[in-house]
Amino acid sequence: MELTDADDPRVEVYSRLTDAALRRRQDTVHGIYLAESSQVVRRALAAGHTPRSFFLAHRYLESMADVFAAHPGVPVYTGTDQVLEQITGFHLHRGALAAMDRPAPRTVDEVLAGARRVAILENVSDHTNLGAIFRSAAGLGVDAVLVSPESADPLYRRSIRVSMGTVFAVPWARIGEADGRGRSAWPAELDRLRRAGFTVAALELSDEAIPLDDPDLRGHERLALVLGAEGPGVSPATLRSCDLHVAIPMAPGVDSLNVAAASAVAFWELRSRG
Ligand SMILES: C[S@@+](CC[C@H](N)C(=O)[O-])C[C@H]1O[C@@H](n2cnc3c(N)ncnc32)[C@H](O)[C@@H]1O
Repeated sequence: MELTDADDPRVEVYSRLTDAALRRRQDTVHGIYLAESSQVVRRALAAGHTPRSFFLAHRYLESMADVFAAHPGVPVYTGTDQVLEQITGFHLHRGALAAMDRPAPRTVDEVLAGARRVAILENVSDHTNLGAIFRSAAGLGVDAVLVSPESADPLYRRSIRVSMGTVFAVPWARIGEADGRGRSAWPAELDRLRRAGFTVAALELSDEAIPLDDPDLRGHERLALVLGAEGPGVSPATLRSCDLHVAIPMAPGVDSLNVAAASAVAFWELRSRG
């Protein structure tokens, strides 16, 4: 369908709505997210997610024809670069967009089933860092990611884009969300991992941390690694809840790594070798 009007209500999801508004859409079961770039759209579809519409410039119609054929009945909106730019507010150099139904949230137990290496993100509120950690997790053998209540949403545009769509491939779930009475279950829910046979380790430069290349670390059959936010790092309460602390030794004069860089180093070193 050719778009000629930047105010066309059929494509409001691509223009006026914030990520938070998309997530709360009343006419959906779990909300909507936007996949940006043809590669990311394909990864979302490969993960089994359901498209609501596609939105792309004329020049991308041909290369995405197989996708449209596989989803008959899903509207395909197109237009000149100028009209599409007016709608989205940016040049469509990422090729194609799709509005997708958010999948049903997974439970912690579901994503832990069969996992041997798990990353737990505490208060990682920066979407760029979160997306980069997912990309590292997917590439370096982490089986699941758990995100604390204050962490960013893996299905926000920037997280998806930075992760290159790996947020669709790595099983993830929220951990520690408040119960019906508003009582927080974070970090108390870390106990669930211990009960499931995980050693829970904080990746943090604490005084009691052992170095990442300590040979004893590799022997853990099931290992969960808690990563903290830029600035505060892993909180004191969470550090107390962990079985051990692990540090990447730093060169003199450098305090720490960015959390996404630290994740890549640790995921590689602690990968399951069995
Ligand atoms: C930038 S750091 C937090 C600030 C840090 N506490 C400091 O004093 O500079 C963010 C997170 O990255 C991870 N991290 C960064 N560098 C690390 C290192 N050398 N060893 C272990 N974890 C590290 C930890 O999970 C940490 O919570």
